Amino acid sequence: MSDKLIIFDTTLRDGEQSPGASMTKDEKVRIAKSLERMRVDIIEAGFPIASVGDFEAVQAVANVITESRVCALARALDNDIDRAGEALKGANASRIHTFIATSPIHMEMKLRMSPDQVVENAVKAVKRARRYTDDVEFSPEDAGRSETDFLCRILEAVIDAGATTLNIPDTVGYNLPHQFGQLIYNLRERIPNSDKAIFSVHCHNDLGLAVANSLSAVLNGARQVECTINGLGERAGNAALEEIVMAVHTRQDIFSCDTNIDTTQILAASRLVSGITGFVVQPNKAIVGANAFAHESGIHQDGVLKNRETYEIMRAEDVGWNTNRMVLGKHSGRNAFRTRLEEIGIKFESETDLNVAFRRFKELADKKHEIFDEDLQALVSDTVALVANERVRLISLKVCSETGETPVASVTLSIDDEEKQVETAGSGPVDATLRAIEELVQSKTELQLYSVNNITRGTDSQGEVNVRLEKGGRIVSGQGADTDIVIASAKAYINALNKILVPVDRAHPQV
Ligand code: KIV
Ligand code: ZN
Repeated sequence: MSDKLIIFDTTLRDGEQSPGASMTKDEKVRIAKSLERMRVDIIEAGFPIASVGDFEAVQAVANVITESRVCALARALDNDIDRAGEALKGANASRIHTFIATSPIHMEMKLRMSPDQVVENAVKAVKRARRYTDDVEFSPEDAGRSETDFLCRILEAVIDAGATTLNIPDTVGYNLPHQFGQLIYNLRERIPNSDKAIFSVHCHNDLGLAVANSLSAVLNGARQVECTINGLGERAGNAALEEIVMAVHTRQDIFSCDTNIDTTQILAASRLVSGITGFVVQPNKAIVGANAFAHESGIHQDGVLKNRETYEIMRAEDVGWNTNRMVLGKHSGRNAFRTRLEEIGIKFESETDLNVAFRRFKELADKKHEIFDEDLQALVSDTVALVANERVRLISLKVCSETGETPVASVTLSIDDEEKQVETAGSGPVDATLRAIEELVQSKTELQLYSVNNITRGTDSQGEVNVRLEKGGRIVSGQGADTDIVIASAKAYINALNKILVPVDRAHPQV
């Protein structure tokens, strides 16, 4: 059996299915480049039939990624597969991932198909996908609640039809580790042609077992794991890439395989995904949480100082901690700025956009003397919003806040190229600002979440604000960064408003 564990990242597809985590084409390209730098084997870039925007995002990722294989998702339907094949045309190496549900409840209630029809559709889909690429993955959706006999039947048939990877999803996160491992073992043993395909797993975290189930599957012969950065994904999320990779890497005494991942890139990818989606990483999150390598108790600290291994099983620097060095400063020129951006995978489409970003960089460097990669990522998001010519733009903001007085914000916005101004009171400077913006835009959205974090250390750090807005069941998130957190709040709110003001007609792959 192979000693290589293939890492299939689905942050851009399943991760994006979390309400509020949708990403623009440019954001997807930035994340894809960061995954490529991390040496992820396969990047699932999206579900091209979902909308024109989704198609273009997969196409854009396929066109820029050269080292990782780029994958697109398709239901077992002709149009889905053709659209996926089309979107992947520019890829150096491509994969089509097609799926159909196999559990009794899904076949009966969702698909309204008989098991025979499901097998027929699966075989047809795999054959059609093979017209576009010789790398085809098949998933029996809800395999975790499917009958093993039926799984054996359909998987044998799709291997004969040309599937090269069989992905076993625990779609609703129902399985327990020993049970899921046993399922993989049984499938590999019982399917006569199982040696012709790689077994993969895709676990959801509804019971907090996605990583445990995936690792149990690896111990039973799975050689691909589907996962996401920070465990982003539908409902409670998917298996977290960083946890899978570091568990296998750290416990080489147990696992007979390892990944090709450059683990030092993990933290940067985690921060990028969290910054773009607004899904903040909890401090005690394994590997990438702020406390993951912090020692508070005096006894622990003493132990670690005497010998690191008394309380640490991994080295912080191996996953990218402690590398937060200053990269640029007040005196850095345009070339140094451009070079560092390129090193972290950011390339502006035009010189004009680069100039806008450089001007903002200089403004930031005047306020904050040390500029880190995280500042650059936030600055890029800001510049993209600025040059995108969005419907709502912040022209100016003035806030008066004084002890004993009611804060008042005076906000001028450009809305559809018309300048509008209002002065509004609020319970605090942020409240006054957001109320003023809402008074001008009249979006009728509900603010579901507001949070502020500092991007780097120190009181001169940029504050990064995340907001989540809801309207008619649709949820969007917005981010904004600035050394002034009231301005950052206004930017984040406007960023979310610009998203919610664009109507979307987007299909969900599993509904
Ligand atoms: O969870 C799931 O079953 C999926 C499939 C599309 C693989 O995401
Ligand atoms: Zn999934």
